[in-house]
Amino acid sequence: MTDFDTIDYFTDPALVADPHPYYDHLRSKCPVHPLPVYNVIAVTGYEEASEIFRNADVFSNIIAPIGPFPPLPFEPEGDDISAQIEAHRDQFPMSEHLVTFDPPQHQRTRSLLGKLLTPRRIKENEDFLWGLADRQIDEFLGTGRCEVMKEYAQPFALLTIADLLGVPEEDHEAFRIHLGAQKPGAMSEADALAHNPLEFLDTKFSAYIRDRRATPRGDVLTALAESTFPDGETPEVIELVRLATFLFGAGQDTTARLITASLQKIGEDTELQKLLREDRDRIPNFVEEMLRMEGTVKSDFRLARKTSTVGGVEIPAGTTVMINPGAVNRDPRHFEDPHEFDADRHNAREHLAFGKGIHSCPGGPLSRTEARITIERFLDRTTDITISEEHHGPAGDRRYTYEPTYILRGLTALHLDLAPVS
Ligand code: HEM
Repeated sequence: MTDFDTIDYFTDPALVADPHPYYDHLRSKCPVHPLPVYNVIAVTGYEEASEIFRNADVFSNIIAPIGPFPPLPFEPEGDDISAQIEAHRDQFPMSEHLVTFDPPQHQRTRSLLGKLLTPRRIKENEDFLWGLADRQIDEFLGTGRCEVMKEYAQPFALLTIADLLGVPEEDHEAFRIHLGAQKPGAMSEADALAHNPLEFLDTKFSAYIRDRRATPRGDVLTALAESTFPDGETPEVIELVRLATFLFGAGQDTTARLITASLQKIGEDTELQKLLREDRDRIPNFVEEMLRMEGTVKSDFRLARKTSTVGGVEIPAGTTVMINPGAVNRDPRHFEDPHEFDADRHNAREHLAFGKGIHSCPGGPLSRTEARITIERFLDRTTDITISEEHHGPAGDRRYTYEPTYILRGLTALHLDLAPVS
């Protein structure tokens, strides 16, 4: 029997397949509850998480993606450690990326994204996505089966971002190969390992930006190359490269797993599949409920820079605060029957799967669109979608494996049987 009071959430494999009994246990103790390890306070309550997300003055993002590892590079002193954080900022993992920035640097860099993700660009990208979904489905539909993660979701989410950033289509295949989303059999594993995806992105985007700065040509990459900070200053090439690279890091795996979880649900629940087939207008709310139930960011962290009180609990400066969106999204004080999947839930969209406040996910609308278009095209092009019993076992006794990490929630693989429209 697992002892939830002493378990190490960060490493114990017992919590991977279904972390919810543990989250419920923490919330039943207190929605803001200290863990026995790593000086972490876990936040499993909706209101409490919202309050923390909104308060960037008290809670720093410097440890947002990874949390308590490695330990802080300093010993926190007093009730305000802002100066200590700034003095050691460069020593934190991923400190060069937007998600770890605090104001005012955060707002300055995030404004570049706003210039890139214009309504026009999003619309053009959506037009590309319909064709992309069909081309991906064409790769396997004739076989009547697919492994969703590798054969559809990873390459689809990858090429969506490539298109969003204006990567020319003739380079898309190279992106697939180097970022691990190549067509099956197209490249040996040894070849793939010989490539470093970060180095690839770095080289590509440095070249694109330098080229567009030298010879502007009115495309999306030129808009990226010519973008400026709010005070008119031009970013260094490396700052734009990091922004582009981070979009791939933040937007590929997360969305691929949302798509995979959505197709799993559709394959498992024939009644729901029928409803969605008959009424496509239900798809957007279905996606919101998927995000609420199976949002793919499992843990999001803050470092308390000032001592404060949330939900009646004192959080000393220097504490690692862990918000679990999956737990928060099943807080019964905010969502009725929170463990029930209800595709028509009226407040599903209030989930915090994309966070909240100044760091809330700028890719939210994009991943919603990716999921919606995927579901539409899978439904349009099949008469039935079922879970492969060969790979996952019979209904009622399924075998699924989840990524063994405290950071992301998601299946490692999903095998479907597909009955193509003749
Ligand atoms: C299902 C898909 C996704 C989920 C669940 C998700 C979740 C999140 C969450 C929870 C945050 C907030 C982090 C924080 O508060 O510390 C975030 C931030 C971010 N996301 Fe997403 N995301 C998804 C897809 C995407 C996509 C498609 C993109 C871009 C193409 C993207 C780009 C970003 C960026 C750039 C940030 C940092 C924003 C900032 O710090 O201001 N995400 N995401």
